[in-house]
Amino acid sequence: MEMVSLHDSLPLFSRLVYGLWRLADDQDTSDGRVIAKIEACLEQGITTLDHADIYGDYACEALFGRALKSRPDLKDACQHISKCDIMLLSDHFPDRRVKYYDTSAEHVTASAETSLQRLGIDALDLLLIHRPDPFMDPADTGRALDNLIDAGKIKAAGVSNFKPWDLDLLQAHMRHPLVTNQIEISPLATNAFVNGDIAKAQTLGIKPMAWSPLAGGALFGNSDRATALRAVMQPIADSANVGLDAVAIAWLLAHPAGILPVMGTNNLDRIGTLSSAMDVSIDRQQWFAIYEAATGQEVP
Ligand SMILES: NC(=O)c1ccc[n+]([C@@H]2O[C@H](COP(=O)([O-])OP(=O)(O)OC[C@H]3O[C@@H](n4cnc5c(N)ncnc54)[C@H](OP(=O)(O)O)[C@@H]3O)[C@@H](O)[C@H]2O)c1
Repeated sequence: MEMVSLHDSLPLFSRLVYGLWRLADDQDTSDGRVIAKIEACLEQGITTLDHADIYGDYACEALFGRALKSRPDLKDACQHISKCDIMLLSDHFPDRRVKYYDTSAEHVTASAETSLQRLGIDALDLLLIHRPDPFMDPADTGRALDNLIDAGKIKAAGVSNFKPWDLDLLQAHMRHPLVTNQIEISPLATNAFVNGDIAKAQTLGIKPMAWSPLAGGALFGNSDRATALRAVMQPIADSANVGLDAVAIAWLLAHPAGILPVMGTNNLDRIGTLSSAMDVSIDRQQWFAIYEAATGQEVP
């Protein structure tokens, strides 16, 4: 597995990241099953794991932390990412009347501490502000993130779903650098290539992460676009002797921005072959053939 540096303050991250959003959706959420997933990732060198406070209606981090208690040796074998600021309407929070974002220093700090406690770890490798907050006081949020880094509770901070101007705003109020922007990118979600999101990351020299790189499974659905994409990707998969999922991931890996795909299958067999994407090389014309099928038109 290729290991990449997001910042000097951080351990190296695996180029492929495994996301835990769907952990609580699995029929089997036993400790043994969770450990089997982590081990399947680690066997391929996938060491970086992506969490968020809200995943599974606030259940996933605790499920993961409970499993980790039975295998504390795995704690330091992984890099742990989490996120905060989305305030879900949830039975756990009966006082909430509306879904909202909270980037206040008080909430960001408390959320990071709760994630540490649920995961059962001493420090997060990375904390991301999950969504841009139209009510953000950037000085307050920036100070909270800087303080969490200074206190050793998080090793670095980043953002998710931020537009270039949101990133600039928060960064302007921080001493420490924002080290990534985790955004939606897949063959069925290509806007980031042209809307400035990837250009911003490249301008700053930060590596973006791609969430739902298989479009949350929609790449294998019956839509015309997915069908057209599979028709273009299948010969590449056949000649590399890998699955279509590996070709889709390889398409993201081929981009010069150094994208880190964050994958989320709950299927142990699929987890076991995630790294096959690293064996596929996509040349410029293959990249554009997939892009053409993705956008439904030849580039001008
Ligand atoms: N920052 C954000 O705002 C944000 C938003 C969304 C997600 N994320 C992160 O990104 C991670 C990945 O998201 P994701 O789970 O949507 O990623 P994904 O890898 O694009 O999609 C996973 C889904 O695709 C299905 N799938 C995978 N391979 C398949 C195949 N060969 N055939 C049919 N179905 C297949 C999986 O089903 P099976 O489980 O049955 O394989 C699963 O339901 C999350 O865990 C989370 O960490 C972040």
